[in-house]
Amino acid sequence: MKKLENKVALITGGAGEIGKETAKLMLEAGAKVFLVDLKAEALEATAKALGNTNVAWEAADVSQEEAVKRYVNKAVEAFGKIDIFFNNAGIEGVVKPIEAYPVDIFDKVVAVNIRGVWMGAKYVLPHMKDGGSVIITSSVAGLVGSPNVSAYITSKHANVGIMRALAAEAAPRKIRVNSVHPSPVDNRMMRSLEDGFAPGAGAEVKKNLESTIPLGRYATNNEIALAVMFLAGDESRFITGATLPVDGGMTFV
Ligand SMILES: NC(=O)c1ccc[n+]([C@@H]2O[C@H](COP(=O)([O-])OP(=O)(O)OC[C@H]3O[C@@H](n4cnc5c(N)ncnc54)[C@H](O)[C@@H]3O)[C@@H](O)[C@H]2O)c1
Repeated sequence: MKKLENKVALITGGAGEIGKETAKLMLEAGAKVFLVDLKAEALEATAKALGNTNVAWEAADVSQEEAVKRYVNKAVEAFGKIDIFFNNAGIEGVVKPIEAYPVDIFDKVVAVNIRGVWMGAKYVLPHMKDGGSVIITSSVAGLVGSPNVSAYITSKHANVGIMRALAAEAAPRKIRVNSVHPSPVDNRMMRSLEDGFAPGAGAEVKKNLESTIPLGRYATNNEIALAVMFLAGDESRFITGATLPVDGGMTFV
């Protein structure tokens, strides 16, 4: 029997880089996968690329309550239940010192990264009738500070608060809740941040950041997805309330 046979996984940010790679591994492990992201076209393309009949999707903005209710109901309609919730959609905001950080962008980052994660859990948990696993994508930015990304740092620290609160509330129902904390990942979001830190000199920023990572490089999408797979499956059955850095030693080494 495959590792996630008979399991249903709901992934937000499912058309994004980490979400897509995780969907691929979950499908290979036998799960049915429901993807949520902002744009129907991106979801359709992702579902096509995954090339598996056990995929369904719904376009929804995770920061809007009615949209959250809708995507949860559609997931249950499609596959009958939810066992795994990869609560992963997130945005980076902009790179600016706090004095220059636009309040409307702070509000947007909070709406997606905090409110969206919290509301997702609020509406998914009632459907985890046989227990389950919730994995929240925080970041190394949820464990330590760094300059000029204050909204992102704030939101990713809040993810740890949500995770711990839910882990305590949901444990009696055999629902585990954990967070993953990626270092920079070699993907779109980092290209955007690198360019924000030094417009036109992203490669230099990357080199500098890599020199702060003991294993000497960014993570791959696959390396984050593998950690999510561990937390999603039965091998982590006694782990809840944990913050798992997937960071090449960046935070604690
Ligand atoms: N890329 C990195 O270096 C890195 C490092 C640490 C943590 N993370 C976190 O990993 C998660 C996934 O990011 P990624 O690297 O795959 O980047 P990504 O930008 O490729 O994926 C994020 C996805 O979330 C979707 N999204 C954004 N706002 C949304 C909303 N309101 N409703 C629904 N979907 C929305 C985007 O459309 C996108 O597809 C994010 O939470 C991010 O903060 C990324």
